[in-house]
Amino acid sequence: MDPDPHVVVVGVGYVGLTAAACLSSLGRRVTAVDVDEARIVRLNSGEIPIFELGLDRLVLDGLHSGRLRFAATYDACSEADIVLLCLPTPTTATGELDLSYVEAALDSLRPTLRSGAIVACKSTVPVGSQRRFTGYLDRPDISVAANPEFLREGRAVADFLEPDRVVIGVDDENVGRRLAGVYHGVDAPIQITDPTSAELIKYAANTYLAAKLSFVNEISRLCDDVGADVSEVVAGLASDHRIGPSFLTPGPGWGGSCFPKDTRGLAAAARAAGHDLPLVEATAASNEIHFDHLVSRILQLCPDIGQRVAVWGATFKAGTDDVRDSPALAIIDRLRRRGVDTVVFDPVAATAGIPPPVADDLYSTCIDADILVVLTEWPEFAEADMHKVAQLLRSPTVYDSRGIISSRAAARAGLTLHRSGRPLRRLDDATESRWS
Ligand code: UDX
Repeated sequence: MDPDPHVVVVGVGYVGLTAAACLSSLGRRVTAVDVDEARIVRLNSGEIPIFELGLDRLVLDGLHSGRLRFAATYDACSEADIVLLCLPTPTTATGELDLSYVEAALDSLRPTLRSGAIVACKSTVPVGSQRRFTGYLDRPDISVAANPEFLREGRAVADFLEPDRVVIGVDDENVGRRLAGVYHGVDAPIQITDPTSAELIKYAANTYLAAKLSFVNEISRLCDDVGADVSEVVAGLASDHRIGPSFLTPGPGWGGSCFPKDTRGLAAAARAAGHDLPLVEATAASNEIHFDHLVSRILQLCPDIGQRVAVWGATFKAGTDDVRDSPALAIIDRLRRRGVDTVVFDPVAATAGIPPPVADDLYSTCIDADILVVLTEWPEFAEADMHKVAQLLRSPTVYDSRGIISSRAAARAGLTLHRSGRPLRRLDDATESRWS
């Protein structure tokens, strides 16, 4: 294992910046490289362009200690022992992943890397990519590895420093052990396996998590129709140790920059291999049906064309500023296409990504709105003054798709609170449900 490996991170997005900052906090010498010169200048001046809890502190500490620096050229790669590729792999119009950013980086690395270096791909890439990149790099003296990331947006620093596991896919066990050395100080099991298995672990993990959510959302839809309480059903599910309570909270559906892309990617890979994976295919389809179900429930509360819905939340979940493939935007889009006016507030998302009008505070969304719909679980929504909401709305009606609004607070304010998979609580509701 290299005693003090020089790590170069290529691509300074939320994965690359998190990896670079965390590895420097673990004592590695890290150079983070990005072709966006303006971004590099801002980062070297201590300006952090990414909303991630705790990241700014780690970046500033790394800059001050000299263990982290940013560069807009690949020059630093000539001394690199390990290169982590953290580049975008967007989906093309035809559904394949665009690997051109990764291959452009390999073109720049090919003439600069010293013999014996390791290039590890953290980007989510199709199964079989490590073999493809080995051929593309065409440097037999360099090892290419798969090293998928399992970072959740909003918790990326914690997930990097305290992961459930580190997965390394290599052709040579010694290369795997050298790469594992980069994670010295991370208290987690390190699985060294073959590259194809490592690449498939990433897709399988995300698709399984998405399938778990599609399942609980389907149960929530059924609860709506049979009058069961999904919070009670989930409690009964979670008490089975084989199921467990994690990642089982019904909501408006799942989204983000990973689950939709990875579930589609796994389905496409299966089809390309001549396999039909019905559970994988159905996971994404079920999520779309969930959006439609939610919209139909909301339209039952404001059936007339031209009515106005106040919407709290645009990001795909709380704790991030990301609206990519956000369930909130999917539902807003469906409502607007059905002739409903929406006025949206989100505490963090950039207004550019939200259909106008966008309000600059949560109460002004309710002025002249018929009902309020909660789509993202930001804590400030749960803490809002429900009496004020009741006074501002034309109809004292809230649809809470995240189950975060207290039924007691809503009842006291004279609001009728509708929630996914939950019976309508009456004013005399003395007992808070499991979720309050
Ligand atoms: C996910 C994976 O969790 C992470 O391991 C992987 O590396 C990247 O993709 P992320 O996309 O940040 O992370 O989102 P995550 O926190 O997993 O949530 C995904 C979606 O599921 C969000 O829309 C969220 O609101 C929803 N969700 C999550 C639920 O509806 N209920 C839950 O209990 C958990």
